[in-house]
Amino acid sequence: MKIEFVAKAGDADAVALLVFEESRLSSAARDLDAALGGAVTRASRQGRFSGKAGQTALLGGASDSTQLWLIGAGGESEFRDLAIESAAANAFNAARMSGAQTLAIELTQLSAEAAARAGFAVRLAAYRFDKYRTTLKPEKTASIQTVRIVCADPKAAKAAAKSWDALADGIMFTRDLVSEPANVLYPQSFVERCKALKSIGLDVEVLGEKEMEKLGMGSLLGVGQGSARESQLLVMRWNGGAKSEPPIAFVGKGVCFDTGGISIKPAEGMEEMKWDMGGGGAVAGLMHALAGRKAKVNAVGVIGLVENMPDGNAQRPGDVVKSMSGQTIEVINTDAEGRLVLADALWYTQDRFKPKFMIDLATLTGAMIVSLGLEYAGVFSNDDKLADNILAAGPPTGENVWRMPLPEAYERHIDSPIADVKNMGNGRSGGSITAALFLQRFVNKTPWAHIDIAPTAWTKDSKIETVPNGATGYGVRLLNQMVQDRYEG
Ligand code: BES
Ligand code: MN
Ligand code: ZN
Repeated sequence: MKIEFVAKAGDADAVALLVFEESRLSSAARDLDAALGGAVTRASRQGRFSGKAGQTALLGGASDSTQLWLIGAGGESEFRDLAIESAAANAFNAARMSGAQTLAIELTQLSAEAAARAGFAVRLAAYRFDKYRTTLKPEKTASIQTVRIVCADPKAAKAAAKSWDALADGIMFTRDLVSEPANVLYPQSFVERCKALKSIGLDVEVLGEKEMEKLGMGSLLGVGQGSARESQLLVMRWNGGAKSEPPIAFVGKGVCFDTGGISIKPAEGMEEMKWDMGGGGAVAGLMHALAGRKAKVNAVGVIGLVENMPDGNAQRPGDVVKSMSGQTIEVINTDAEGRLVLADALWYTQDRFKPKFMIDLATLTGAMIVSLGLEYAGVFSNDDKLADNILAAGPPTGENVWRMPLPEAYERHIDSPIADVKNMGNGRSGGSITAALFLQRFVNKTPWAHIDIAPTAWTKDSKIETVPNGATGYGVRLLNQMVQDRYEG
């Protein structure tokens, strides 16, 4: 699908007009209303339509060749930022399968920046992962091929769209990775996809099992040892800042499939564990976005890539492994594997790059979903300023985050009777917290935050217009915003 910024709708066969609450017409809607002898006004008051956000109505028969859509835009004084995104995405979603091929969304009263944002929203809303469907009926696919954002200054909007496009590219890169099944996306093929990002200026480096053995990464390697696929550590770098500046670092859990290992998961729902690399996917998409918009910052992305399988060679419950930090870990439950992967990835990142901070993203615990439900990710941090910077990026991006505690009093739950630490806490209580405390044992003085995105990496019931069901790409927007607001220039 193509997005264009234009001054006039031209020959578009569908046109979307904004109507604000209490049926107040936008300027474009008023112009058309005059030309149609009040038909838009009448339609904007018909039935239950009143211009509330989320409402859409088709104004039938106004023209032989053009569909007219009325899009509820909510209160006019609150019509900015995410409200603009929702309205533009709603316009697209309404007309998507209507049969029209070109949709013009009338936004002449908005700034160029807002018009660019609307284009971004349409791109996100239009995302689908249909590559494996071979029998999809034409009437079930999008008819819209082109979306025209009609605005006052198309040239300025097009220029403003550049950095929004970079962000959308990053988010969609993440969604593609997270959507792929595990027979297609495994550690080495994940790496291959990321190597393509060299073309946008990222440095990409890969450590295989031999290199990781040399570094003493027994914790990460133990998780992958039951898999026929080789584990990988992927390191991506974007150098957009001053040479002397230490980088900021992002670390991702890249469990390409999580069967639970010998502590095997129940069959029902196990297929969902293809998206257990959602944290790694978000790190890759974030690096894509930063490079794409040439962010003025030095950033590294480190992703621990493994497959957690049961096998004759798999790690057993009770095994003791030695991490790169030197700490030994008693593996009580092989299904608590994400923390084992991150233990070595975090230590490696802090040891090699001496970053300003590190933030890890991981679909780490089912308990996070129990705590916060499906619309918030949990943030754990040893540094209030870093935590605040992450939390501040939530509202402007619509990616909800909530801070969680790291209480010293729970440390004893991960003390092992035979090793330095064990990989599971006290049964089911505080499962996300003990997981985060485990990670913290592999962080020294570096400001660090852990974002448990188990709730938000995937959705079956999206209520956000720009997020279709499936892989959400959660985390890319949030952290891109945080970097832009607090760490550039
Ligand atoms: N990948 C899972 C967590 C998860 C569950 C993510 C559901 C998304 C949706 C993780 O590796 C896991 O299995 N965690 C266990 C930990 C337990 C064994 C201590 C869990 O949450 O049950
Ligand atoms: Mn697991
Ligand atoms: Zn997992």
